[in-house]
Amino acid sequence: MSDFEPKIVGFLCNWCSYAGADLTGVSRIQYPTNLRVIRVMCSGRVDPPLPLSFLAEGADGVMITGCHIGDCHYIDGNLYAKRKFSLLERLVEKAGLEKGRVMLEWVSASEGQKFADVVTGFIGKIKEMGPTPATTDPEILLNLRAAQAAAEAYRLRALVGKEEKLEKKGNVYGDKLSQDELDRIMGEAVELEYTRNKIRLLLKEPMSVKELAQKLGIDSKNVLDHIVALRQRGWVDLHEVRDHSPLYKTMEVA
Ligand code: FES
Repeated sequence: MSDFEPKIVGFLCNWCSYAGADLTGVSRIQYPTNLRVIRVMCSGRVDPPLPLSFLAEGADGVMITGCHIGDCHYIDGNLYAKRKFSLLERLVEKAGLEKGRVMLEWVSASEGQKFADVVTGFIGKIKEMGPTPATTDPEILLNLRAAQAAAEAYRLRALVGKEEKLEKKGNVYGDKLSQDELDRIMGEAVELEYTRNKIRLLLKEPMSVKELAQKLGIDSKNVLDHIVALRQRGWVDLHEVRDHSPLYKTMEVA
């Protein structure tokens, strides 16, 4: 795969990493040209649905860079970036991709050489992994769309936004949650939202609970619970009954 040139999307925070990339250029430091840069005001602005949408569109890798911890222009934006990145990694893995296809790194305005090294290193790793399967494997593409929809769900957005406070300051009762506890809660929420959104996408074609269970590799009772929840949300409805078996269909897919 020596002629493989990865397509990489890079989110660069305006105040540190973008300036670091600028310094790389001004200093005439060489690095591969595979990177397509998106300037954001803070790494904390990069919500997981956006990198997932680029991966679904065929990007081989996505990197996010921001100010070092303690140097964020908005004080704690990069702490939120870390939380969001952790959620992004979970969803990338759920979709069946290597989590190494996404990367988070801190690069300051004075670290031109580091910026070049980070980009070069990331592109080297992506070259080892090979081209994204999202462009050739419809199952992976469906998974990435399900992951993207899950990342847009209120449950995950609210949880990732509150993790920092729940760990440092505690909930409304003043109880602080450990990182292990937060990881467990997030893991369950990811599983739930990912599965429901995948069902929603699969049900663009009418299907029975049994067929869904086979496609998802989970038991029918579990699928039925999800169908009940999705019907309550108004996302899925009974389409028809065929051979005594109810078939369900998605009401609308974004
Ligand atoms: Fe750079 Fe927040 S401003 S990470």
